[in-house]
Amino acid sequence: MLSTCLLAAVLLPFVSAKPLLTKRWSDYEVKHAWNSVPKGWKCQGSAPADHLLDMRIALKQDKFDDLVTALYEVSDPTHEKYGQHLTKEQVDALVAPHPTSVDLVDEWLTAHGIDASTAERTNGGSWLRLPVTVDQASRMLNATYEIYHHENTEEYIVRTLSYSLPAALHPHVGVVTPTTYFGTMRSMRKTSFLQPEIKPIDNDHEIAAQLTDPASLATVPSSCSTTITPACLRALYNTTSYVPKATDVNSLGVAGYLDEFANNADLQTFFSRFRMDAVGATFQTVQVNGGGNDQSDPGVEANLDIQYTEGISFPTPNVYFSTGGSPPFVPDSQTPTNTNEPYLDWLNFILAQSSIPQTFTTSYGDDEQTVPFDFATQVCNLFAQLGARGSSIMFSSGDDGVGGGSCTTNDGTNTVRFQPNFPASCPFVTTVGGTVRVNPEVAVSFSGGGFSNYFAQPSYQSAAVKTFLTRLGTTNAGLFNTTGRAYPDVAAQGQGFQVVIGGRTSSVAGTSASSPTFAGVIALLNDFRLSQGKSPLGFLNPILYSTGAAGFNDITSGSNPGCQTNVRLFYCSPSQVCL
Ligand SMILES: *[C@@H]1O[C@H](CO)[C@@H](O)[C@H](O)[C@H]1NC(C)=O
Ligand SMILES: *[C@@H]1O[C@H](CO)[C@@H](O)[C@H](O)[C@H]1NC(C)=O
Ligand SMILES: *[C@@H]1O[C@H](CO)[C@@H](O)[C@H](O)[C@H]1NC(C)=O
Repeated sequence: MLSTCLLAAVLLPFVSAKPLLTKRWSDYEVKHAWNSVPKGWKCQGSAPADHLLDMRIALKQDKFDDLVTALYEVSDPTHEKYGQHLTKEQVDALVAPHPTSVDLVDEWLTAHGIDASTAERTNGGSWLRLPVTVDQASRMLNATYEIYHHENTEEYIVRTLSYSLPAALHPHVGVVTPTTYFGTMRSMRKTSFLQPEIKPIDNDHEIAAQLTDPASLATVPSSCSTTITPACLRALYNTTSYVPKATDVNSLGVAGYLDEFANNADLQTFFSRFRMDAVGATFQTVQVNGGGNDQSDPGVEANLDIQYTEGISFPTPNVYFSTGGSPPFVPDSQTPTNTNEPYLDWLNFILAQSSIPQTFTTSYGDDEQTVPFDFATQVCNLFAQLGARGSSIMFSSGDDGVGGGSCTTNDGTNTVRFQPNFPASCPFVTTVGGTVRVNPEVAVSFSGGGFSNYFAQPSYQSAAVKTFLTRLGTTNAGLFNTTGRAYPDVAAQGQGFQVVIGGRTSSVAGTSASSPTFAGVIALLNDFRLSQGKSPLGFLNPILYSTGAAGFNDITSGSNPGCQTNVRLFYCSPSQVCL
């Protein structure tokens, strides 16, 4: 296809003059626009007018502030409502849109010839999903949909560089997708990588035998400085002697995305080598939105996640969520496809269930600046719903230190600034950084960390961040946003993990290893609370930065360079919370 990208932008307004819109619906104001094509993508020409988009419209959640208030009340260990998590129905009521928003959006859809009653409505009616042609979407959003090709992933998507909404709708609509978010499940970064330089070990039966009486941290074998197995982590984080009891109600969820399958045969091999008492234990795979489960195609990320969540939390039931999208878009085919953004399908699926795992881990992320602010805000708000319902949500902090590559901003100025990761930067998730070695455990150099440019610093961390910034002084001043949400919140081992992939053990690194590790420990803590008839821990950050801090070991050395500079931003405060 010839590149008609520029031409299309000029022609489209003429083409799209079809239904005569009243002034109200043609009075566009820009909702989001890029000033250049996002990195890695190349425009291939206009999208076919009849191509079907799987459109999502997020309406403003009328009582969202009340939801956030409720979230902090039930998550604050000193509040009388601590642990009194909300039901799905209570959350849905708080995130419902105002009736005026519903009416206005329905009128707008009708004006574009769309039957508003056919829209699927979830999250208390705040998210609408409906099939819309490129032609319709272009007129609704004064957008120019084009086909973009990713040079590394070979993926094709249909997106626009800008979109608008009628001025009357701006106070009522949070985000519309697919529009300007170019991230996809394939192009997003998994936060794990193979370490061929670290020779894998056959098994750790000897180490495991030494640890039958783990009286103190001093018994953590020195081999754990190089190769990590469940025995190392259980000794280091002192969970060896804990026997889970609430396995009938407690569970741990791993969110996996397109083409990453957790392999059961590999899990059994892993157990026989590294956690013999767990041989025979499996996990449940839940396929979301057409997600696959090809047991002949084990994924490094998926196997790492499930082998370590289960290696630590056994016999707690583990659930692997394999989230798909519809088949990738092929530009020369007439088949309608959606080109979904990550998380939305998974989040909408999870939030629609009345009973959900108490602990979740996810090991994917992207530079915050590549995620449009309106999209990031709406997705981050969905994580708040999970917390209000009593789930602890862990995200890996990223594997690029304070930023990968040259760290130039994409606002047209090409300024060098540290690049935070999203969703790690969302204040409603618990972000896990990486460490290495034992006695002492130190920060690992790739561990993602920084300050959000989108989300303001939540009060739960303001004292810890203040201490951190005071110590840091003027170092790196101007390269990061001191008023933003700072992360990671905690850290755990992140290198030399022994993972079985296709029957063979390999060494794997990444904060992708740290997040499942931390989630495994949280699942055990949840087990303890549930077995005592208490609520699960729920959203962790308020307790991590207050009464829970005493349970953590302070990581006081190491650094996490990035942005092609040698910086030191990863440092832990005396309040024992790692930032
Ligand atoms: C619609 O978008 C185009 C650019 O794609 C812009 O030139 C035009 O002014 C916009 N129309 C309105 C009414 O805002
Ligand atoms: C490890 O946990 C046990 C309880 O299971 C506790 O008695 C012991 O003090 C803990 N050790 C350390 C070093 O925290
Ligand atoms: C810094 O973060 C705040 C949120 O706390 C945000 O409003 C502001 O735009 C950010 N500044 C920059 C330069 O990104």
